[in-house]
Amino acid sequence: MRHVIDILDLSVEEIDGLIAAARDIIARPEAYAERCRGKKLATLFFEPSTRTRLSFEAAMYELGGNVLSVTGAGTSSAAKGESVADTAKVVSCYADIIAMRHPKEGAAKVAADNASIPVINAGDGGHCHPTQTLADLLTISREKGRLGGLTVGLCGDLKFGRTVHSLINALSRYEDVKFVLISPEELKLPSYVKDGVLKPRGIPYVQTTDLEAALPELDLLYMTRVQKERFFNEEDYLRLKDSYILTPDKMRLAGPDMSVLHPLPRVNEISVAIDNDPRACYFKQVLNGKYMRMALMLMLLEAN
Ligand code: NCD
Repeated sequence: MRHVIDILDLSVEEIDGLIAAARDIIARPEAYAERCRGKKLATLFFEPSTRTRLSFEAAMYELGGNVLSVTGAGTSSAAKGESVADTAKVVSCYADIIAMRHPKEGAAKVAADNASIPVINAGDGGHCHPTQTLADLLTISREKGRLGGLTVGLCGDLKFGRTVHSLINALSRYEDVKFVLISPEELKLPSYVKDGVLKPRGIPYVQTTDLEAALPELDLLYMTRVQKERFFNEEDYLRLKDSYILTPDKMRLAGPDMSVLHPLPRVNEISVAIDNDPRACYFKQVLNGKYMRMALMLMLLEAN
């Protein structure tokens, strides 16, 4: 049984194949309108979500399939104390594929170990978020024309930001990628990513607190929200939440081709005055997420 829990569950060739498939879906959506006829996606979301859940559901509808949905731990048997393992066994009786988001790191893996249908991790705590990375990669590929040879700035909450961890894992497998890690001291990239991914692969990276100094050299800037829900005390969150705000003034320091990405939701990190800047790609990224989830579900349903 094939699952996608971590972005590393997909080879580089498979990721390139998913990008090609998504581009074909964009070019010929009518050819895909019946591909999942009779199939059911179960979305199990035990943490807040707008984009990820709706894009999975829209993706399944656009493939001609149907959707079963659980939103919020409070409305399902999780509130009665049902384990993730049992939930996965039960949902396997009703659906053909699961997309699951859960506040605990490793929850999607437990679901996959117990399900008899493919499980896609739609975010497990501060750990990883592989389908956001697929959306990011399609966006980068469409905007920059390549996934290698890029200087990538990641800014904000690099400690708790699961989208950052998955994106670094993915881009580290392409040639000649450099990272500029921009965060407050307290929100630096965890050592399991630095020592587990960047150092062993000899990937060049610098760590800095200075966004403005970094901007001129970046091909791409990935902004992130400070992850309020992962903080142990509110005081620390309030002190750190506005560490970086991308404004039109700062954008003047960046090159004319620097793409700005953000997984969204945006709180305060990007001024709305940038939304019409041609370098702002975060709303295109939302749409790309739907196409990549279509490509991924097709791949998993056809493989299993
Ligand atoms: C991200 C997430 O859930 O990790 N959102 C998303 O899926 N687009 C980023 C975030 O919540 O900050």
